[in-house]
Amino acid sequence: MIEKTNKVAVVGSGLMGTGIAHAFASSGYPTLLIDTNPEALARAEKSIYDILDGGVVKGKMSETQAIEAKALLSTATDLAQTPADTSLLVETVSEKLNIKQKVVKAAESVLNADTIIATNTSALSVTEIASVLERPERVIGMHFFNPVHKMKLVELVLAIATNEETIAASRDWCEALGKTSILVNESPGLTTSRMSAMLGNEAMWMLQEGTASAEDIDIALRMGFNHPMGPLELGDLTGWDTRLSVLQYLHSTLGEKFRPCPLIIKMVAAGRYGRKTGHGVYQYDETGKRISGSGLKGSAL
Ligand SMILES: NC(=O)c1ccc[n+]([C@@H]2O[C@H](COP(=O)([O-])OP(=O)(O)OC[C@H]3O[C@@H](n4cnc5c(N)ncnc54)[C@H](O)[C@@H]3O)[C@@H](O)[C@H]2O)c1
Repeated sequence: MIEKTNKVAVVGSGLMGTGIAHAFASSGYPTLLIDTNPEALARAEKSIYDILDGGVVKGKMSETQAIEAKALLSTATDLAQTPADTSLLVETVSEKLNIKQKVVKAAESVLNADTIIATNTSALSVTEIASVLERPERVIGMHFFNPVHKMKLVELVLAIATNEETIAASRDWCEALGKTSILVNESPGLTTSRMSAMLGNEAMWMLQEGTASAEDIDIALRMGFNHPMGPLELGDLTGWDTRLSVLQYLHSTLGEKFRPCPLIIKMVAAGRYGRKTGHGVYQYDETGKRISGSGLKGSAL
């Protein structure tokens, strides 16, 4: 149980920072959202207000709760403005090691010794991010999912120095947000990205070998296992370029079983990244709506 007086700071007000700040403020915690870019901050504040107002319209929260959440949210362009007695700081700035290390170091210099510093990194080493700090035992990975207000899971990533107190408090924080947390020892792809990469790669191997059509491979997972999306549809949504770089990283760190399917390499070389280029396994119009099936079988790609 985390008392509502505990303060939170979220550094980085992009896609994820917006969702994470919304989660804390709407759960009743004083939340300071920080970004060096004032335009990004203004955009984030507007998005958070929109999500809250939408929640009222949909009957998910009362108008009073939305007003309270808005009042709990504040913004700053300078991390040095973070109150020292902030209980938890979540960094969710751009996915670059040197930027993240700079942010956590600046955070450590303004925060009390018992503040937890969490990083929302998707793929960087939490141990390496924490390596520049004097108190790495207070650092943990808190991997949220997009869109944060809909996704229930948080992967808590344990770095080499993360201590038990930090793990216990982080679990309590996730519970306070209504999220389910799982513990993952720092490892490439954690649990979710690693399984998703394997599934998407295997689906592409089957498509390349002509085991089944793209549509049928997707139907197999949707109807057979109740997945909300098939692995090829999901790859089109995520982008095969992103998928390929994740697979290449997993291949280099975890070995042969993650060797990217040649069909993915061919599609990326052709610019068929998925929805964002209008063509992946399937084709899309400019609004992102699917306009045709793949019509592709095996080597036809
Ligand atoms: N996008 C996703 O689906 C997703 C999911 C899980 C985790 N993540 C991780 O979350 C993090 C953020 O991703 P995003 O998609 O929100 O990125 P984004 O590019 O939308 O936002 C990053 C924000 O960080 C700000 N920023 C950069 N340097 C800063 C600094 N020194 N101080 C303060 N603010 C700074 C930028 O101005 C920008 O607003 C990354 O580590 C990413 O890997 C992303």
